[in-house]
Amino acid sequence: MRFSKDLVEDIRSRNDIVEFIGTYVNLKRAGSNFGGLCPYHSEKTPSFTVFPATQSFYCFGCGAGGDVITFAMRSENLDYAGAVEFLAKRAGITIKADDEGERGGVSRRRIFDMNLSAAKYFRACLFDERIGKEGMSYLVNDRKLPMSVIKHFGLGFAPNGFGGLTEHLKKLGFTEQELIVGFLCGKSQKTGRAYDYFRNRVIFPIINTSGDVIAFGGRVMDDSKPKYLNSSDTPGFKKSKNLFALNYAKNHCSERLILCEGYMDVIALHSAGFENAVATLGTALTQEQARLMAKHTKQVIISYDSDEAGQAATRKAVRMLSEVGLDVKIIRMEGAKDPDEYIKKFGKESFARVLDSGRTGFEFKLETTLAKYNLASPEDKIKASGEMCEYISDIFSGVEREVYIASVAKRLGLSESGLKNDVEILRKRKLKQQATKNSNDARMSAMGIGDNINRDAAKNIRAKSAEEAVIGLLLMFDEYRELVVKGTVRLKKEDFFSEFHSRVFERIIGLAESGEYDFSLLGQFFTPDEMGRLQGLEQKRRALTENGREVFTQCVKALKSEKSLAQSGDGIDEIMMLLERKRQQNK
Ligand code: UTP
Ligand code: MN
Repeated sequence: MRFSKDLVEDIRSRNDIVEFIGTYVNLKRAGSNFGGLCPYHSEKTPSFTVFPATQSFYCFGCGAGGDVITFAMRSENLDYAGAVEFLAKRAGITIKADDEGERGGVSRRRIFDMNLSAAKYFRACLFDERIGKEGMSYLVNDRKLPMSVIKHFGLGFAPNGFGGLTEHLKKLGFTEQELIVGFLCGKSQKTGRAYDYFRNRVIFPIINTSGDVIAFGGRVMDDSKPKYLNSSDTPGFKKSKNLFALNYAKNHCSERLILCEGYMDVIALHSAGFENAVATLGTALTQEQARLMAKHTKQVIISYDSDEAGQAATRKAVRMLSEVGLDVKIIRMEGAKDPDEYIKKFGKESFARVLDSGRTGFEFKLETTLAKYNLASPEDKIKASGEMCEYISDIFSGVEREVYIASVAKRLGLSESGLKNDVEILRKRKLKQQATKNSNDARMSAMGIGDNINRDAAKNIRAKSAEEAVIGLLLMFDEYRELVVKGTVRLKKEDFFSEFHSRVFERIIGLAESGEYDFSLLGQFFTPDEMGRLQGLEQKRRALTENGREVFTQCVKALKSEKSLAQSGDGIDEIMMLLERKRQQNK
């Protein structure tokens, strides 16, 4: 049986990996991920990690990994189709035998049409004096939104009934199944009746850059919970790939974008004339969103909430945005929790000044670090300096390191030479760790130790690492798969040394060519162990900051030159000889 991309997406979004694995493994939050004791090998300290952002898991101890389907295969001892069915059943999804091409037979276009009708309905409700009174009063009186802004953003109101929208859309010819798939209605467990998903909330339509209404957010008008309700992923919508208000901002952001946390921040900014503001949709910033921004602009000004959570999210966002080559600035709003409040309190001119005084990632790190410590205490000063040296030691450019060292020295009242020394020690230590790790890895695989998955990896170590990088990058980004599919980057399965990588490449590109690529679908071609390896390769790339297009083309080039070397007769032997010599030396 063949499964579609839509189906596995649906299965993943309705079987949250943290929740699912949590029923087998005792998971504890560790930063933005979750850790626990690996169920697949015996260990005392947790190396098993679940990543909510990518809906994947990986054990750094034994290399087990994959997605929710792989986990179900392993834990329930099922084959791929069995695991898909198991998870579908668990989430109440029916898989139609004849039609796996679309999610329950509902296409993107159909969802967009339905959403448009829903948006019109919500809007009509808001503007109906009787029905929408409370919603309108909330937007106008409590949130101080001018009518022009309410109209511009197409805001609406979902009345407090049971099935008003459901009835309305059914009359227009949409089926209950379509409404459920589109997250506009749910089905009561008790009575089996369909009810409106959004009730008694003001509604924010989410519109993509082509102008389709792809989803909705709804806010309560008091302090009840949850504050916002959002559409989950549907065939026409992926939260992680869209940004609120990019449909408007895209025409005003060739220089810079302002990134905020909330719908209301964006609306306040746009109405104050900052039409280049966008927000993520109730989730932490994803790599896909960072790339999306990079397509539209050069610089991103992060304008997250000033609370602890907002600052933690800022640190992550700085890294993600820099990784895709964006120039990043961070602003600080004194005396207000978010841009919405700031503009209300201090006005738009003042916010414009704040924007112009944005700090760089380094300045932000320096200030948040200094604020943590009491610099009058020598111990604290040492800690602050240590933390800054650690940060600086990861910076590639020597000139940049020097500039930062000077600035830290000044702020901490320490000598530049002392700091420089500390930074260099850290750098040496890191380089050495990396080198030892590399040579250990190389030795292990040269001897064919520990690689039951990629059995011929030992044939050519250099090709192996180039191949691993290429596969990791192909797993990570649509963009690179496109390059290969379109032939912009020429790469064939014959270019790979190892049979395993060659097979992986063929499957990835095969799915991409049919427009059906999804990591989860690879599970039908590979064993759970092999999926673990793939997860590991992707993980390895994610941990690195250099994943740009240039890196991809360089790795492809390296891989191909290895192959031609090998075909000319030298290559493998030469490398084996070098490795053997190195092994002797290391003894
Ligand atoms: P905030 O709680 O900061 O909300 O969440 P806000 O935008 O400042 O809202 P107001 O001003 O109180 O109305 C920031 C964003 O996180 C998402 C929403 O996208 C929100 O805009 N969120 C928040 C949710 O998805 N669900 C929630 O329950 C809360
Ligand atoms: Mn907020």
